[in-house]
Amino acid sequence: MNQDTPKKPPDTKPWGGRFSEATDTFVERFTASVGFDQRLYHHDINGSIAHATMLAKVGVLSDEEKQQIVDGLEAIRAEIENGTFQWSVTLEDVHMNIEATLTERIGITGKKLHTGRSRNDQVATDIRLYVRDEIDTIAKELTRLQTGLLNVAEREAATIMPGFTHLQTAQPITFGHHLLAWFEMLQRDYDRLMDCRKRVNQSPLGAAALAGTTYPIDRAYSAELMGFEKPTANSLDSVSDRDFAIEFCAFASLLMTHLSRASEELVLWSSSQFDFIDLPDRFCTGSSIMPQKKNPDVPELVRGKTGRVNGHLISLLTLMKSQPLAYNKDNQEDKEPLFDALNTVKDCLRAFADMIPAITAKKESMYKAAKRGFSTATDLADYLVGKNIPFRDSHEIVGKLVAYGIDSGKDLSEMTLEELQPFSDVIEQDVFEVLTLEGSVAARNHVGGTAPQQVLSAVATAKTALSTR
Ligand code: ARG
Repeated sequence: MNQDTPKKPPDTKPWGGRFSEATDTFVERFTASVGFDQRLYHHDINGSIAHATMLAKVGVLSDEEKQQIVDGLEAIRAEIENGTFQWSVTLEDVHMNIEATLTERIGITGKKLHTGRSRNDQVATDIRLYVRDEIDTIAKELTRLQTGLLNVAEREAATIMPGFTHLQTAQPITFGHHLLAWFEMLQRDYDRLMDCRKRVNQSPLGAAALAGTTYPIDRAYSAELMGFEKPTANSLDSVSDRDFAIEFCAFASLLMTHLSRASEELVLWSSSQFDFIDLPDRFCTGSSIMPQKKNPDVPELVRGKTGRVNGHLISLLTLMKSQPLAYNKDNQEDKEPLFDALNTVKDCLRAFADMIPAITAKKESMYKAAKRGFSTATDLADYLVGKNIPFRDSHEIVGKLVAYGIDSGKDLSEMTLEELQPFSDVIEQDVFEVLTLEGSVAARNHVGGTAPQQVLSAVATAKTALSTR
């Protein structure tokens, strides 16, 4: 302990009764969370109002006392919002700062607010309320991004580009189809988020420190006042459970993984080597030394920020590991990773939702790229199969034609019938229908296929689904 640990000053800590000396000044700073948990103030006040309202309903507080508390809390909320509220590290966290100020203002009634409650169920309630609101904001941004993807996919339903495996040209696809692949990833993320919300949306209030309380509380009522679906079922679990936060981070990690994959493609596509898209200038930055540069910073940053979100997931899993029941101070460490994950996800979604509708497809360049690399080779093999050649043999024939194409510098669609026929005499004039890129994509006309018609119908289905959210 510090030499200069002050003698116990009167009544600075709401829990100071059994202590005979003041907290070491370093320990005070070390254990305080007010620096980062003050952002819970709004939900802390809402939770306290619900608690006081419930206490009045069951007769623990008079209506007058309840009203004094509510008015006092609303005045504090206003001060916090206009920046005049004095936060104090001595008062450790957001909960004690608000409660102590309330008592200072309204006197003895303020001290009654904490009846039948502990900071343990209070903080669990606050975080759930906070995360629930953030989930709703994130759901809206995700929907905005998905809507943007659908609009671009619709516009580019027939735009042809190369599809890749191993980052080598594989088969022609439509750009709309590619964007719908991103849409599907995000759709699963959305479903995971909604599933997480169900488990977030339960009220731990009333679990008190760990065992519940002797007051005749009405947990269903306070849960209802806060818009929770129901009270949680076990008081020990209620104060110690943070898996709703871990679940959120798991959702966030997968979402960021998907955004990082899309980012990577945007970075590649906007390079002069690919030249598939143009990212508007407002999403890019220049170089201080190379005047020609236009760098895709936004997708690069989104890709980079995936790392910190993955880190937060691991932090929370490790934080929770081996914790005995019930509440432990370890849990105070849940906030910074959680808050940063929430912020990062919101920012990245916002960037993407703004950027996606603004990208331009460089159609000619995509088309040219799709022509290179013998992307219709599979179509030719399928054509030969249609003329009764076994697939393995047709694969061999097309392989030889590709070798010829490499030597002669010609794509399959550029060869004449006279050049094609020596490789197989079943090849006729109709081969050119399948060798064109348009023919190739149009032929993949089944659910989930790349044909423009399928893209349009997938967009229509998805738009209907989004409209019912
Ligand atoms: N600041 C604490 C946290 O974030 C609040 C709960 C503290 N409870 C306690 N018994 N020390 O977890």
